[in-house]
Amino acid sequence: MTFEIIRIDPFDDAAVDAWWDAYAAARRVDMGENAVIWSREESRAELQQPSATTDRRAFAAIEHGEVIGSASLALSLKDNVHIGAIGVNVPEEHRRRGVGSALLGHVERKAAAAGRTTMRADIFWPASAPADGTGEPGREFARRHGYDVAIGDLQSRLDLPVPDAVIDELLAEAPADGYTVRTWSGPVPDDLVAEWAALDALLDTEAPTGDLDIEASSSDVADYRADEQLIARQGRTSYGTAALTADGHIAAYTQIVVSRDDGNAYQWGTLVRRQDRGRRLGLRVKLENLRMLQRLSPATTRAYTFNADENAHMLAVNTRLGFRMTARMGELQKRLG
Ligand SMILES: CC(C)(COP(=O)(O)OP(=O)(O)OC[C@H]1O[C@@H](n2cnc3c(N)ncnc32)[C@H](O)[C@@H]1OP(=O)(O)O)[C@@H](O)C(=O)NCCC(=O)NCCS
Repeated sequence: MTFEIIRIDPFDDAAVDAWWDAYAAARRVDMGENAVIWSREESRAELQQPSATTDRRAFAAIEHGEVIGSASLALSLKDNVHIGAIGVNVPEEHRRRGVGSALLGHVERKAAAAGRTTMRADIFWPASAPADGTGEPGREFARRHGYDVAIGDLQSRLDLPVPDAVIDELLAEAPADGYTVRTWSGPVPDDLVAEWAALDALLDTEAPTGDLDIEASSSDVADYRADEQLIARQGRTSYGTAALTADGHIAAYTQIVVSRDDGNAYQWGTLVRRQDRGRRLGLRVKLENLRMLQRLSPATTRAYTFNADENAHMLAVNTRLGFRMTARMGELQKRLG
């Protein structure tokens, strides 16, 4: 092995830049214009932000002073403390000589040393590739290293704006009688944040989970506010909508986050409380949120969303709005032996 693996100091600008360049190059070569990547400054801000909920680490493979591969490790600290979430990215010119395997081994050992027993990673392959990812670098690399696809997702893209007539037609199907809808941009209003954070924490286990070995996240308003501060430091803008019951509880919520750096909108969570399901509230809040986004952020021309490929209802709604599948994502999992 002619290279060494080092940990990146998040406050060493040149080191973070080189680490990020390798990540972005690796993602772009496989995914082209539909590579969904965090911007350089979004990544830097996240690495620098002290966090009570996640221990984040970045690593690089260095050869002759050049970064030839990058990796990341995220250790959740308050729940799911059995999981280590990883990313490994090797630019095309450095592939197939063991760099990815060495980085993966390195982060797996760090995760194991931190008591983690389940490793997780997300991989992407283009819509034009075989549906199960056969032959794609990330999928084959995962297979070689004993990672299974615990759940398959679709990445879909919507070109904005959606015509008002389309939104109105769908809104007519989701009258939300008996509920009040509130929308805002920026932080969640103080009177809603506790319930909002609680619902948001349920998302990972209430949405389809496939074979994922996860538990519901805990929720804490101070942690949620810290996440919002990170969003602000990253230059991102959040758009939120909630449907409220007559007595003021959140029955449904949805959130879109716009990146200042790539200009895209990203659909984050949407969830309807169990007792309020079956009334098309999810559709209602998504449409109201989209309408607000189009009004307040007219320069945004592209929105991305991810859905489990078994989530037929959500996919049907997205198709009517105009979303088109652009890629597949596999949520990988491996239990460390
Ligand atoms: C997946 C990725 C990290 C592999 O990096 P790499 O340095 O080429 O990996 P390695 O050289 O260690 O490959 C190890 C083994 O994985 C398998 N593999 C890797 N890429 C493959 C490909 N394109 N086709 C088939 N098998 C492949 C092979 O079994 C390979 O062993 P071999 O070269 O002896 O045949 C790289 O292609 C990449 O950055 N892709 C985009 C991001 C990603 O999907 N990351 C993966 C998980 S987070």
